[in-house]
Amino acid sequence: EQLPPHVMVLFGATGDLAARKLFPGFYHLAAAGRMPSDYRVIGSGRHSPGDDEEFRQQVREGLEDTVDDLDEQVAADLLERISFQTSDSDDGSELADRVREAEEQLGDDVRRLVYLSVPPAAMQDMVAMLGREQLTERARLVLEKPFGLDLESARSLDAALKDVVDEDQVFRIDHFLGKEAVQNILALRFANGLFEPAWDSRSIASVQIDVPEDLGMEGRGSFYESTGCLRDMISTHLCQLLGFVALEDPGSFEEGAVRDAKHAVFEAMRPLDPERVVFGQYDGYRDEDDVDADSEVETFVAIEAFVDNDRWRDVPFYLRTGKRLARSDRVITLRFRGSDCTLFDDEPTRRPPNDLVIELTDDPKVHVELRAKKPGPDMDLVEAVMHLDVGDAAPEATPLEAYERLLLDVMRGDQTLFTRADEVDRLWQVCEPVLQSPPQVQSYAPGSWGPEAALEMPTGGWQLRG
Ligand code: BG6
Repeated sequence: EQLPPHVMVLFGATGDLAARKLFPGFYHLAAAGRMPSDYRVIGSGRHSPGDDEEFRQQVREGLEDTVDDLDEQVAADLLERISFQTSDSDDGSELADRVREAEEQLGDDVRRLVYLSVPPAAMQDMVAMLGREQLTERARLVLEKPFGLDLESARSLDAALKDVVDEDQVFRIDHFLGKEAVQNILALRFANGLFEPAWDSRSIASVQIDVPEDLGMEGRGSFYESTGCLRDMISTHLCQLLGFVALEDPGSFEEGAVRDAKHAVFEAMRPLDPERVVFGQYDGYRDEDDVDADSEVETFVAIEAFVDNDRWRDVPFYLRTGKRLARSDRVITLRFRGSDCTLFDDEPTRRPPNDLVIELTDDPKVHVELRAKKPGPDMDLVEAVMHLDVGDAAPEATPLEAYERLLLDVMRGDQTLFTRADEVDRLWQVCEPVLQSPPQVQSYAPGSWGPEAALEMPTGGWQLRG
């Protein structure tokens, strides 16, 4: 697969995401021979990190921190293609000049990739600036989430985008969709005859989408103050996971079929009921850098959601995520209804349910909690676990980290794993009641599983606990 030459512009190039994910992503793609035939990366932002050499040094340090066994040659080749140009939403003229210079060096048929890793409040003005400077021509625009801060601002951002680009140029990135394990949900469901017939309300009692994090603010206090956990994680990552779990057979991977199927799920989602939402804030959050001493911003959210269609009617979806929790994990649990069969028990409801647990680790793992006969002379049961480790099935395969996969997809022009405007719009509609009347934020101890109220939700017990 030969990609055309690219000039990539990276807004937010001195930020945390660029250092932890984007530059390492370019490095790994380069090491795997997956970068375009020729390319330049122009970092940009309001504040200069110094001259090009100093910027390269900063990127290099980031690579050293994140890449094991850095290959000097690959790193040197990447670094030599990197430069920096300050810009802001008022003035991008020097940046536009730099882009054109770089394009001249690369010959004809050069593509532009413009990555906007900027806070939601700054996004719209940046988009307008790109339009004014004609940087949108031949460009694919990658936008970091959240896309707006509510329905109104998302619509206004969308209108600004439509003024300067077509939807097929817009790549709204939600990196959870780049995770191998998330795409594996489609394979599990649709490439096996085993699960799909049971993938509905007749067999499934509830679904949990659980992404606790032990990390705190990590220097992102001011981002969190303007965003909060609902927008940072729920309306984006966790709802997208819900879309993948709940969608109908998309029929193909062509022409937006997966996105159509996901959009249909969001259309059927019931707007959230603030009474079924728990907001939490960890003790000590208000002492974090750049956080207001009286902040009411939520660092934890648990919700009960419903998808009102034939497949999922009355099946609760419990979504939970938060900072400074007991541990970091990412797990989707499909909890199957107990069996009606009385062969082993007069009271079937006493038997624990079967859980199908999809672990969203880099190396996808799935397990099923079930019962088997306990070896021995009597017909007793034992609780057992059936494990699938996808890595063991394909030891020679080279998984891509989420951002690597998605950067590659942008360069290929494949939008399947990106979020479409209509999905974003609908998810803001779903979240709107909570944004309008947010529940009272409840405090929780760092290292716990969040506020008591979330543990008391009628989940039948969170799969992750203890
Ligand atoms: C980011 C959020 O999008 O995802 C962070 O802004 C969060 O708050 C992160 O920690 C989690 O991603 P991952 O891939 O590290 O689980």
